[in-house]
Amino acid sequence: MGNLVLEALCKRYGSSTAVERVDLEVKQGEMVALLGPSGCGKTTTLRMVAGFIPPSEGRILIGGQDVTRRPAHARDTGMVFQSYALFPHMTVGQNVAFGLEMRKVGRAERDGRVMEALRLVRLDHLADRLPRQLSGGQQQRVALARALVVNPAVFLLDEPLSNLDAKLRGEVRMEIRALQQRLGLTTLIVTHDQEEALTMADRLVVMERGRVRQVGTAEELYENPTDPFVAGFVGRCNLIEGRLEAPGGFRAASGALLHCDVEAAEARPDAALLALRPERIGLQPDAEGGGRVAAVTYLGAQTEYLVEQDGTSLLIIRPTPTLADPLRRLAVGDAVTLSWEAAAARLLPAAT
Ligand SMILES: Nc1ncnc2c1ncn2[C@@H]1O[C@H](COP(=O)(O)OP(=O)(O)O)[C@@H](O)[C@H]1O
Ligand SMILES: [Mg+2]
Repeated sequence: MGNLVLEALCKRYGSSTAVERVDLEVKQGEMVALLGPSGCGKTTTLRMVAGFIPPSEGRILIGGQDVTRRPAHARDTGMVFQSYALFPHMTVGQNVAFGLEMRKVGRAERDGRVMEALRLVRLDHLADRLPRQLSGGQQQRVALARALVVNPAVFLLDEPLSNLDAKLRGEVRMEIRALQQRLGLTTLIVTHDQEEALTMADRLVVMERGRVRQVGTAEELYENPTDPFVAGFVGRCNLIEGRLEAPGGFRAASGALLHCDVEAAEARPDAALLALRPERIGLQPDAEGGGRVAAVTYLGAQTEYLVEQDGTSLLIIRPTPTLADPLRRLAVGDAVTLSWEAAAARLLPAAT
């Protein structure tokens, strides 16, 4: 066991850069998720850690040792692939034993460890089956056992749930997290699914176009995004372009003057965007109000409203009002007043 450190890790393919100077520490026993849209460099980063892709620059340290130039099998990592990548002609037990054979572990010890790993994922009764005789969820659990059987210092998972249906995904998600916590595994998981990242990982690394945009807990990223991409990618967000106007107001490009925090404005004089979470905006029917309802979408527990005010369009999400609430009768074209606490409006630099 040990921690994982990435130092200024880069990967270039000709003139294009897949991963650009990624710095990161995954502490011993911690689970960190690399989160970002398709093509942002998540898999490339993970494969460099596993030793399948040589970095163009930078270093990888596991438990304090520089493993940058070590081959994959000498790195003490266990990897689970998106596609499971089980050997179809080998039984479940033989699949799980593979990594131990590669490491020249003797027969007796090997058999014991294979059964132990299969017990961890509750598949010890299926050791003699072939992969095609298993369900998708069971195949993925074999892949987990195969990665864990070598007692890896670092556990690597690339979109491990993407081939499972929605119900199974929730189950396997909890199973992986429970296993990771019980065994105290230092883990790096890749996903493009924010819910997966938010529910499984201790910390998240949001990537875009090969770069790390922000690192933090789910709450830190949601409550205090420091980057416009992160504000828009983790949860939903109104991002309004404009500039600060003393005192305590943000002048939207459309002309609307929006309420924001004076202290926050002092801390960020270069503000070019105002970020406002849809559920932080209050909505009141008001014949004198400056806002006009442009759309109402009923979603059961919540209702979404699109409101136009002074040329700016704002998404508002409220718990669906009760029958007695005047908001219940709000319809397209109605006049409304919007309100929010100054601290709810976060100031951000221009998108880069
Ligand atoms: N072997 C390769 N040759 C050239 N470009 C590649 C290669 N592998 C990946 N890329 C590019 O690097 C970028 C990052 O890819 P990848 O790490 O797979 O993204 P993600 O896993 O976040 O979807 C993409 O633009 C991809 O096209
Ligand atoms: Mg990928």
